Amino acid sequence: MSDPYERSAEYLDILIAESWEPLAPALADALSNVRARTGAVVDLGAGSGRGVRVICDALPQTPVLAVEPSAAMRAVLLARVHEADELRERVTVVPGDCAGVDWPDGVRAVVALNMIGHLPPGQRRALWGRAARQLAPGGALVFNLAPPFTPVEVERVRTARVVVGELEYEGWASARPTGADEITWRMDYGVLRQGRPLAGASVEYRWWVTTEGALAAEVAEAGLVLRRTGDSGLGLCVLERVSDPASQVG
Ligand SMILES: C[S@@+](CC[C@H](N)C(=O)[O-])C[C@H]1O[C@@H](n2cnc3c(N)ncnc32)[C@H](O)[C@@H]1O
Repeated sequence: MSDPYERSAEYLDILIAESWEPLAPALADALSNVRARTGAVVDLGAGSGRGVRVICDALPQTPVLAVEPSAAMRAVLLARVHEADELRERVTVVPGDCAGVDWPDGVRAVVALNMIGHLPPGQRRALWGRAARQLAPGGALVFNLAPPFTPVEVERVRTARVVVGELEYEGWASARPTGADEITWRMDYGVLRQGRPLAGASVEYRWWVTTEGALAAEVAEAGLVLRRTGDSGLGLCVLERVSDPASQVG
């Protein structure tokens, strides 16, 4: 299967940086409220490692498994991890995807940010089932849900612009419905010198959409309960096992 991130990895880390500004403290807060105190943290679709950095800062000493299927993204991730002693000592970068990579039983938390839409419904359900079986008591799965929640057209919009040295980098996104619960994103990346295009790339990938209500019902089938956390605009959700006593409180 082709990797849409093969050509966008060059741009993704710098263009996703701004969206991590509010996301990082919200993720740190969600992780510090996880009741489980032991076990590793699994970061699914760790990308360039911005989440890994937040996990390591929020939960000192905790081992992290950073699962990432794209070799191009792993190159950025490995560089980020290798560069910092405190990451290199406890972050393991695992090549593979959500469905194919084993995690140990008793994980403290699973983080899946900006990636749940990559999972077709069957794989998404499998992930909820696996979390219900393999989270430590009091453990949590943290993910985010971003619009659109139904398969609709998304008009092309600039999502980010940064300047590095003498060049500007831009990201643009649009989407079209391509199935009953599916859209296809088109991402255009551009490099400009004084407003003139110098380089760029366009990629498309499938993305499965769902509403929060449908998801809440879906995770309940796996024995999990969904609650929102952080600023509502972030779409941050925490899943805990219904049978963990404290998840019934607050
Ligand atoms: C938009 S990026 C987000 C990266 C990172 N989580 C962040 O928020 O900065 C989505 C990531 O999910 C990864 N991905 C795609 N399909 C996946 C799957 N089935 N299992 C795990 N990761 C996947 C991609 O390779 C990519 O690195």
